[in-house]
Amino acid sequence: MAYDNILVETRGRVGVITLNRPKALNALNAALVADVGHALDAFEANDDIGAIVVTGSEKAFAAGADIKEMASKSHMDVYLEDFITRGWERITVCRKPIIAAVAGFALGGGCEVAMMCDFIVCAENAKFGQPEINLGTIPGAGGTQRLPRFVGKSKAMDMCLTGRQMDAQEAFQCGMVSRVFPTDKLMEETLKIADQIAAKSRPIAMMAKEAVNRAFETTLAEGVRFERRVFHSTFGTQDQKEGMAAFIEKRQPQFKHR
Ligand code: CAA
Repeated sequence: MAYDNILVETRGRVGVITLNRPKALNALNAALVADVGHALDAFEANDDIGAIVVTGSEKAFAAGADIKEMASKSHMDVYLEDFITRGWERITVCRKPIIAAVAGFALGGGCEVAMMCDFIVCAENAKFGQPEINLGTIPGAGGTQRLPRFVGKSKAMDMCLTGRQMDAQEAFQCGMVSRVFPTDKLMEETLKIADQIAAKSRPIAMMAKEAVNRAFETTLAEGVRFERRVFHSTFGTQDQKEGMAAFIEKRQPQFKHR
């Protein structure tokens, strides 16, 4: 499929989606969000893909929702079309592991899209922020909900109320990102991580992701119960038998993704 606003490639067992509206710093318009949704549908349907990376350019992961596209919308327009819902939430229901690799600006909807992914790695030049307050609005793609879960209430309030940007070092220190890489090494290093994940059993990686995500949806007791049941269910897979046999036989496992 041809895309106008993203580049899509397959690197071994990793699917890579590169946001590509350079003149608008990858501002997220409806067409780009739809492209991302279609690319994710294709990667999810492809059994040869074990992990997905979403990235942007060196200057911008994405500078937010497209302000020019939304500036003149009325309340009725955004309410009736359920603006920032269809398509935008596609990433959050992706069942395969999905990594955001952020260089440059990840602002507003850009920061929110990164947070929809399973985890974020970034380049030394990354800048995260929720500057919507400067535009007379508030984050609308989950920023007020996901940012506190990533960085805690105090910093989330600080970010949403001042609209300031957080650099890579601060993002690392507060747990917003799991790793920081030199800017020119971001993709190389991210692909190593994605390769590592894609080499695991696909269904088991999906179960691990589902269990971690449950931590943000429910109580500790319910989350642990969910985890225990999923853990039990791994014993019904061929890959658990193979993984444990390989350990005992001191060899590498050959996962069948079953
Ligand atoms: N929407 C539309 N166009 C955007 C954009 C956005 N979010 N961000 C940047 N652009 C465009 C600029 O208008 C400019 O286009 P023109 O050349 O046609 O004027 C081009 O990208 C380059 O931008 P700048 O000249 O501003 O580049 P800069 O390096 O001087 O500044 C920046 C970079 C600090 C990121 C600045 O562009 C900026 O502040 N952008 C807006 C950030 C923002 O407010 N994001 C939140 C959007 S609202 C939102 O996302 C709601 C939500 O929760 C879903």
